[in-house]
Amino acid sequence: MAKRALITGVTGQDGSYLAELLLDQGYEVSGMVRRSSTINFERIAHIQDRINLVAGDLLDEVSMINILKEIRPQEVYNLAAQSFVQTSWNQPVLTGETTALGVTRVLDAVRTVDPEIRFYQASSSEMFGKVQEVPQVETTPFYPRSPYGVAKVYGHWITVNYRESYDLHASSGILFNHESPRRGLEFVTRKVTHGVARIAAGLQDNLALGNLDAQRDWGFAADYVRAMWLMLQQDQPDDYVVATGETHSVKELVELSFAAADLDWEKYVVMDERFLRPAEVDLLVGDPAKAEKVLGWHRDVDFAQLVQMMVEADIALVKSQQA
Ligand code: NAP
Ligand code: GDD
Repeated sequence: MAKRALITGVTGQDGSYLAELLLDQGYEVSGMVRRSSTINFERIAHIQDRINLVAGDLLDEVSMINILKEIRPQEVYNLAAQSFVQTSWNQPVLTGETTALGVTRVLDAVRTVDPEIRFYQASSSEMFGKVQEVPQVETTPFYPRSPYGVAKVYGHWITVNYRESYDLHASSGILFNHESPRRGLEFVTRKVTHGVARIAAGLQDNLALGNLDAQRDWGFAADYVRAMWLMLQQDQPDDYVVATGETHSVKELVELSFAAADLDWEKYVVMDERFLRPAEVDLLVGDPAKAEKVLGWHRDVDFAQLVQMMVEADIALVKSQQA
């Protein structure tokens, strides 16, 4: 019998890669999608006929209880969230409802319908915020710097708490930034690679950015969803840092992206205060030793390959749109 998995956030970057991975593993994959007035399935269009899409919302526990009763999954991956840090200052309550309390709603639905379900929570390196040690590991204390980071700390601890209170197989992946050609256009990597492609095509003459000094540990999303799946295949639930162990500044990202299109970034990049944040996370770099040792996880794509892949994909996208 094929295993059944439910993904919340299946229309997002990670949801689309995870759905592909689970389909390849022979799972029956269901994806929870929220109601909207326009269809928003671009990232899963190529596999849509192989996924069972079910309507639900992290803001509504009843919808999740009904979905679990109907599908009876063995594994639930909770990837849905208000995931853009900058927006979390403008919509702090919605961010808390979705990214924090939403986790409790899914966990409680799991506990109510079938406590044998294995649960994955999409925790984040944003929880480390103003970092208390370098590199960050599973035991590094949290110091979130945004309403999003605070919400993710809640989501992380409620996952630990449900694991300890109800003996759930609930694991939390503390994932560092991971990107791809499917990344949302508002995140800095995609904003830069898409901007480069538009500048190369003569469609835009500058790129407005905020803090170029921030440093991130950037990996490839398809590598990272493999770690999520591996966590739920372990006998015991646990928490794992998933990262590359390398950090690069936004400026390095910019230099490399423009160079990939034979452009000089200094001619195009302008500073725009609107993209600065009220409180910044200056440096993130994770140590994935535990994930490598226990899960046997490793990443295949490095930073330079990731940037090259994203620039090439955006150049092809812009060309196809022009055609
Ligand atoms: P993403 O592309 O922004 O996708 C977010 C998903 O959540 C979308 O499918 C979105 O649906 C859904 N969603 C938002 N609010 C919802 C609600 N109220 N009910 C149901 N679904 C809702 O994010 P991602 O990059 O794939 O990240 C996946 C998860 O990992 C998120 O929890 C994120 O916070 C976390 N994370 C990401 C990274 C990273 O670097 N990517 C790192 C650490 C942790 P719509 O399509 O309808 O908007
Ligand atoms: N978005 C954006 N836009 N960021 C900019 C810009 C800009 O114009 N200019 C500079 N930056 C800087 C931000 O200030 C931040 O320091 C860094 O680039 C990365 O920003 P994002 O790409 O928006 O990602 P993030 O690190 O805030 O959050 C992402 O990673 C987290 C994991 O650490 C998101 O995917 C979160 O959901 C995820 O949890």
